[in-house]
Amino acid sequence: MTKNNNNLNNQSITPLKATQLQGEDKRQYIRTLFDNIATKYDFIRTIVFLGQTSSWYRQALRDLELQPGMKVLDVGCGTGESTRFLTNSYPDIEVEGLDLSPGMLEVARQLDSVSGYFEGDVCNIERPDATYDLVITAFTFRNFPDKQTSLAEMIRVLRPGGRLLILDHFQPQKILWKQTYTFWMSQVVPQIVKPFIEDSTPYRYLAQSIINQLSMPEFTNLINGFGATVTQANFYGGGASGRLIAVRN
Ligand SMILES: C[S@@+](CC[C@H](N)C(=O)[O-])C[C@H]1O[C@@H](n2cnc3c(N)ncnc32)[C@H](O)[C@@H]1O
Repeated sequence: MTKNNNNLNNQSITPLKATQLQGEDKRQYIRTLFDNIATKYDFIRTIVFLGQTSSWYRQALRDLELQPGMKVLDVGCGTGESTRFLTNSYPDIEVEGLDLSPGMLEVARQLDSVSGYFEGDVCNIERPDATYDLVITAFTFRNFPDKQTSLAEMIRVLRPGGRLLILDHFQPQKILWKQTYTFWMSQVVPQIVKPFIEDSTPYRYLAQSIINQLSMPEFTNLINGFGATVTQANFYGGGASGRLIAVRN
């Protein structure tokens, strides 16, 4: 399928409908979306989140106390900012990044020749059970084709006692901030990205996926049902972003 045909297919689905897609339909929608924006992803994200995502990575990833020899998987690594952060921050650990989008991986590989990047799907991680000490997924969970299978797979590849870290966008709880943030994401962002991309669908999808995001207690209940126990939950940016850490039982 050509890039243009994929574009048309994604444009024919409303952002709300896209957040509700499951399985292969969601996988195809998401792969097309990220392949199409890969080369501009980092630049546009800096504008959309006013440069805050780098600070959220630092807050979420700097206190992990990873020891030499530990193995880490970054699921939905995209262009690799979190993968590079881990590789550069913790000496002598082994970091791999997995992503569905060849376009995003191409950018990641251009920026980083140390971490190991591979193409794949969170619902079928091609690694043996109990391979990793830490699995992270940053700003990605909302895009997965199946929440339950994704969690089961990320926990399967963790060794017992290993940690799963989910960093993602949330809806702020404080009413004024929630209204401002929702207005920014759903009304302002689709306009300000227009000079940089032909089609603002990915950013209307982004806003809708944040509106549809699980709450922190819903996330905690879901993870606790999958052979792991949530031990930490933190918010950043007044609740616009948050981190959960769970330990595999
Ligand atoms: C919003 S980007 C986040 C990228 C990166 N983690 C970051 O923090 O910049 C979401 C990424 O998740 C990837 N992704 C979505 N669904 C996936 C799946 N089923 N399996 C693997 N990666 C997936 C997308 O291709 C995309 O690169």
